[in-house]
Amino acid sequence: MSQKSCLSVILAAGEGTRMKSAMPKVLHAIAGLPMVAHVVKAAEAAGATGLALVIGHGAEEMRKAAQKFAPKAETFVQERRLGTAHAVLAAREAISKGYDDILVMFGDTPLIDAGALAAARQKLAEGAAVAVIGFRPPNPTGYGRLVEKGGRLAAIREEKDCSEAEKKIGFCNAGMMAVAGKHALRLLDKVGNSNAKGEFYLTDIVEIAGAEGLDVVATEASFESALGINNRAEFAEAEGIWQGRRRREAMLSGVTLIAPETVYFSHDTEIGADTIVEPNVWFGPGVKIASGARIHAFSHIEGATIASNCDVGPFARLRPGADLKQKAKVGNFCEIKQATIEEGAKVNHLTYIGDARVGAGANIGAGTITCNYDGYSKFFTDIGEGAFVGSNSSLVAPLTIGKGGYIASGSVITESVPDDALAFGRARQKTLPGKGRELRERFASSAAAKKRVAE
Ligand code: UD1
Ligand code: CA
Repeated sequence: MSQKSCLSVILAAGEGTRMKSAMPKVLHAIAGLPMVAHVVKAAEAAGATGLALVIGHGAEEMRKAAQKFAPKAETFVQERRLGTAHAVLAAREAISKGYDDILVMFGDTPLIDAGALAAARQKLAEGAAVAVIGFRPPNPTGYGRLVEKGGRLAAIREEKDCSEAEKKIGFCNAGMMAVAGKHALRLLDKVGNSNAKGEFYLTDIVEIAGAEGLDVVATEASFESALGINNRAEFAEAEGIWQGRRRREAMLSGVTLIAPETVYFSHDTEIGADTIVEPNVWFGPGVKIASGARIHAFSHIEGATIASNCDVGPFARLRPGADLKQKAKVGNFCEIKQATIEEGAKVNHLTYIGDARVGAGANIGAGTITCNYDGYSKFFTDIGEGAFVGSNSSLVAPLTIGKGGYIASGSVITESVPDDALAFGRARQKTLPGKGRELRERFASSAAAKKRVAE
């Protein structure tokens, strides 16, 4: 990759009215990450060394969000939306720092791939002053058309300013472009607003640079790369495309997806080779899965770490802080939160383990609950190596169950249990011979008496 410095200017001042949302459009998340953060990632992957975020609508919310997904980005407020060139100039201070390349990008184009950006930068390295990223949409209506002459890009004409002949051009402006840093401000300052919309169009720098005798070219990106999100239908389409790409990438890296179209990844899901994911599994943010694990159908997993050869689900819910060590097993209708399940431990059925550690090889019986919360504070349960917790036990934290400890089924355990001890925490059983029949007879005769009275 080029060693040259590069400032990515990301335009995100628009209101996004068609999303019909209280939240700025570009903060809507695809695969759990705001769409503008996807744009930032692509910029970084294409070698951007500086980031300037141009904001306007919802500036405060945008600034706050940016601190998380792009802490190094500088933000610039465009007070009035006077067009894309005007928006880029809001970042004048950053642009004037003397970067080699300026990459102009849109915050609402989350599927842009780094390769397309790098290709445009490459054109600058070869001597172009401006390299525009073009694409061929199925329907060009509404896009700026790329007017080429002799292998050079002569102009970009916005739909409203197009002649009938120009409207027939299928090669369109994706909106993004690379501009040589040494020319950027001069070209931008020459842009006027005498066009159908009365806006300062970034696209005008193509003709301006051409008139100065500079080299201007177009590169071509995929349609998906240029997909701009305006409403929730396009937003869902982008999510679908993103998921499709990620599923394919997972499969090509050695992960088996039995029904790929039913598995949802997050932007940061890590998953090792030879792991098998059954249908209808959802991965929220922060999931790391090593190799050779099996995730059974209908599991919901977020913020969890799963070591190799673990077995999860079906219908498992792993919440943030769930940490499954090698060969651990978490079965159906179990919920694990902020808890370590050590090597080979089993939590197989209908159980809640929260704020806890389950020691290696321990067995947690069906219906076990760690009672970790008293309505005010959370408390920890430590279950030792090789312990056995009988079915339907309530473990009232704070609590320690020693190594090899044995808990009788149906217990409510409120005091710590030493290593290898057996603990009962339930009323002793009383068995009364013949009393069952006696009771049944009494109930039957009183029911018969009631029936007679009613007749
Ligand atoms: C733009 C291009 C058009 C291209 C299309 C691709 C221009 C003049 N036109 O048109 O050639 O085919 O994108 O989708 O560049 N923005 C600001 N401040 C402004 C104006 C815009 O921040 O004052 C931001 C918007 O939030 C948006 C982006 O810039 O993210 C593009 O602006 P928009 O008005 O959507 O441009 P288009 O008309 O779609
Ligand atoms: Ca647009």
